[in-house]
Amino acid sequence: MDTGFYTGLIDRYRSILPLAKDCKVISLCEGNTPLVRCRNLEWANRKGIKLYLKFEGLNPTGSFKDRGMTVAVTQAVSEGSRAIICASTGNTSASAAAYAARAGIKAFVLIPDGNIAMGKLAQAMMHGAIILQIRGNFDDGMRLVKEVANEAPVNIVNSINPYRLQGQKTASYEIVEALGDAPDFHCIPVGNAGNISAHWTGYCELAATSNSNVTHACGFCDGDCSFITSPKTTLRPKMLGYQATGAAPFIKGAMIDEPETVATAIRIGHPQSWDFAQATIKESDGWFYSFPDDQILVTQKLLAENEGIFCEPASATAVAGALHDIEQGNIPDNSTVVCTLTGHGLKDPDIAIKQSNAMLVTIDAQLDSVKRTILDNL
Ligand code: F0G
Repeated sequence: MDTGFYTGLIDRYRSILPLAKDCKVISLCEGNTPLVRCRNLEWANRKGIKLYLKFEGLNPTGSFKDRGMTVAVTQAVSEGSRAIICASTGNTSASAAAYAARAGIKAFVLIPDGNIAMGKLAQAMMHGAIILQIRGNFDDGMRLVKEVANEAPVNIVNSINPYRLQGQKTASYEIVEALGDAPDFHCIPVGNAGNISAHWTGYCELAATSNSNVTHACGFCDGDCSFITSPKTTLRPKMLGYQATGAAPFIKGAMIDEPETVATAIRIGHPQSWDFAQATIKESDGWFYSFPDDQILVTQKLLAENEGIFCEPASATAVAGALHDIEQGNIPDNSTVVCTLTGHGLKDPDIAIKQSNAMLVTIDAQLDSVKRTILDNL
């Protein structure tokens, strides 16, 4: 549908999404997020590296989940579903709650008690979700959701729902359209491992349209990319998946039972898309790596202070990874690198305030006091 202005990713990418033609679209105008070039991380620039940030925190509920949720909820509604359910570390629950509100259906969300960021909880509450705080972690919630969906009339909207990944693959399309080609490296945080798999699906579909030697991984839609106006790509990036050290099953090579990290969004020990993510790394000739919490938080602050971009801790993991691999020479000079910033920093104000050493002074409400503070700090 061409209305002359952007109306969301289902309208934009209809021909590559497995939705019925006459379905009622549930959208909040998600997608179309900015790809921002880093300007001030100078040493990266010095190596001739073009470092871009795909700021997914600017989706309607502040994370990349909206890309998948618009497709999953549209499909659920077209199947006649009256309720959706998910386990979540926070962002999926916020997104599910918002799209359920938009669709006029119920959202049930299972979250780990005491372990989700305040902004995300506020969103689920405001959008009227039924919130089940479980005495357990995300992985426990995921197990329960899968069990209950066999016994109650609810549609799961976690990324094990294939419609979620179909929506999320559109981020790769936007990147290729913006750059005119695929980047050399794509850096992304990994939790449940759906998003890295979705991005790879998108890149493979794009490459498959211009190179018959490339078969794409999804096999779900026919990959008709004829509407892409920018040059089609034959390239696929190396996919680099980054985790927090305390929640890094892909580094360990095995599931872990007690994941722990300050980046609560990726506090996951049993990723559901394990095989798909492993295949993504292998096929793309990429790698996994992990970073301790303090390095993740330093990178979050580095971006906020030097580039004016405020992402949540989990998202900063991707940039910590890119900067590390550039410095180590694993990413060669003159490469084009895209980092996905999965969620907005406002999601987790507690962490931001706790780690900030911003100047916060209390003064009298008098001109003199304001002036003195300015002159003392220029
Ligand atoms: N970054 C953020 C901000 C997230 O919320 C998530 C996942 C990820 C990265 C990891 O993406 O799971 O596809 O590998 N959050 C889920 C949730 C698990 O419930 O909101 P993934």
